[in-house]
Amino acid sequence: MKVSALGRPLSEVVADAVVVAAHSDDAKPPAPLRRLDQKLGGALVQMLEAEKFQAKPGYVTHLHTAGRLRADRLVVVGLGPRDGVTPEHVRRAAAAGVRRARDLGARRVALDCFGERLAVRQRAHALAEAAMLATYTFERYKREKSDKVVDEVLVVAADPQDPRGAAEGVRTGTIFGAATNFARDLVNGPANDVHPTRLAEVAGEIARDGGLGLRVYERAECEKLGMGAFLGVSAGSLQPPKFIHLTYAPSGRARKRVVVVGKGVTFDAGGLDLKTADGMLRMKDDMAGGAAVLAIMRALPALKPRVEVHGLIAATENMPSGSAIRPGDVLRAMNGTTIEIGNTDAEGRLTLADALAYAAKHIEPDEAIDVATLTGAVGAALGPLCAGLFANDERLAERLVTAASMTGERLWRLPLVDDYREYLRSDVADINNVARGVGGGAINAAVFLREFVGGMRWAHLDIAATAFTEKEGPLQPKGATGVMVRTLLAYLTADAESR
Ligand code: BES
Ligand code: MN
Ligand code: ZN
Repeated sequence: MKVSALGRPLSEVVADAVVVAAHSDDAKPPAPLRRLDQKLGGALVQMLEAEKFQAKPGYVTHLHTAGRLRADRLVVVGLGPRDGVTPEHVRRAAAAGVRRARDLGARRVALDCFGERLAVRQRAHALAEAAMLATYTFERYKREKSDKVVDEVLVVAADPQDPRGAAEGVRTGTIFGAATNFARDLVNGPANDVHPTRLAEVAGEIARDGGLGLRVYERAECEKLGMGAFLGVSAGSLQPPKFIHLTYAPSGRARKRVVVVGKGVTFDAGGLDLKTADGMLRMKDDMAGGAAVLAIMRALPALKPRVEVHGLIAATENMPSGSAIRPGDVLRAMNGTTIEIGNTDAEGRLTLADALAYAAKHIEPDEAIDVATLTGAVGAALGPLCAGLFANDERLAERLVTAASMTGERLWRLPLVDDYREYLRSDVADINNVARGVGGGAINAAVFLREFVGGMRWAHLDIAATAFTEKEGPLQPKGATGVMVRTLLAYLTADAESR
């Protein structure tokens, strides 16, 4: 899908559909609608009145223009009260409008740059992003593809105060949307195709296309580095593990160095502590953190933040077999810590342990952020629409929460409870990989990870419950969500930099 900005009056735009917005507290339709209504001989206002259109968020209606406009269809979306409009309102209204236009058969859709309370650039970003997110489909494995496809979106804005704003907003919004959809494709992809080797190939393509640095460590090299925890997870799988390290360096001096680690378990059967059939069904999504990291690294060359960014993925499967690690085994992580395996299904933290230790030892960043489908427990705590955040640094936590609030992705801080470290005590090793008989599973996992971060400022995002949805949402169909791609891009490109 192509998205571009257009500096023309709405009534002159040639398209299959034009999407405009109305507010629930306006006594009469806003100026852009009235101008269109004149051309339509009053048909628009007549329809809105006849339907008692309320213009609440999520409400959509449309009419066919019968040749009286240069666009064949006019779609009206509700934006709610004029004063309360947020970027998320704009995104959801745009999403509803583009979807309606698509379902009516439109291929070329014009969006009025609505949401006047916000800066043009911010609006245009939200509109372009939402159009990309809401029309996402995953049809690679289907013979029959949907016949209703939007292939061009125009964001219509002519603001003399900010002539570049719309174009720049459309540009960044499109990048954010495409990055999220790129992650969705990888997560929706089945584990028989999206295996560690494939993730490494994708990293190779991203590095080549974007001029990024890339190092992929094979099993033998990981052994030399001392990654016993990561390799332990891999021991039961026929798929070779890959430790992926991508590097983006800005052209000038970097203001800071950030590591982003993504959990890359391409299939989590649980290992010898095998999952149930139901529990295993969706476990191709256990690399959603890794997919987010690849999507972010792919987007950075176009966004050009003045930050050095390292993307790490310890990619592996977690399978049961005669060569798999056993409950009771002891592994040695790269930082020397010995880990007793209390449960082979708590494998994500083992892969992250070595990735975090690698970052602390070989990259020494100003901050490290990991993204991981780590625990079912985070879903019990926060449900399906809110990711969990843990951090050992207040300002890092605050800045991530701020970034999330701008993108509309929900993120809620949970505590690293020092006293829970004792639940992870092992009789034979430095630490056990699971806490026995206590609740707070998401916290216990985060407390485990903290053993491996050394002196780094660090944040951990648990996306186990938010990475995949069984229900269509306002900005996406069922399936992979691409969660945290936009929040992390917003974080890395935020203006107020350094520390
Ligand atoms: N990949 C799972 C976490 C998960 C659960 C992701 C549900 C998505 C949906 C993780 O590796 C896992 O199995 N965690 C266990 C940990 C337990 C054994 C301590 C869990 O959450 O049950
Ligand atoms: Mn597991
Ligand atoms: Zn897992």
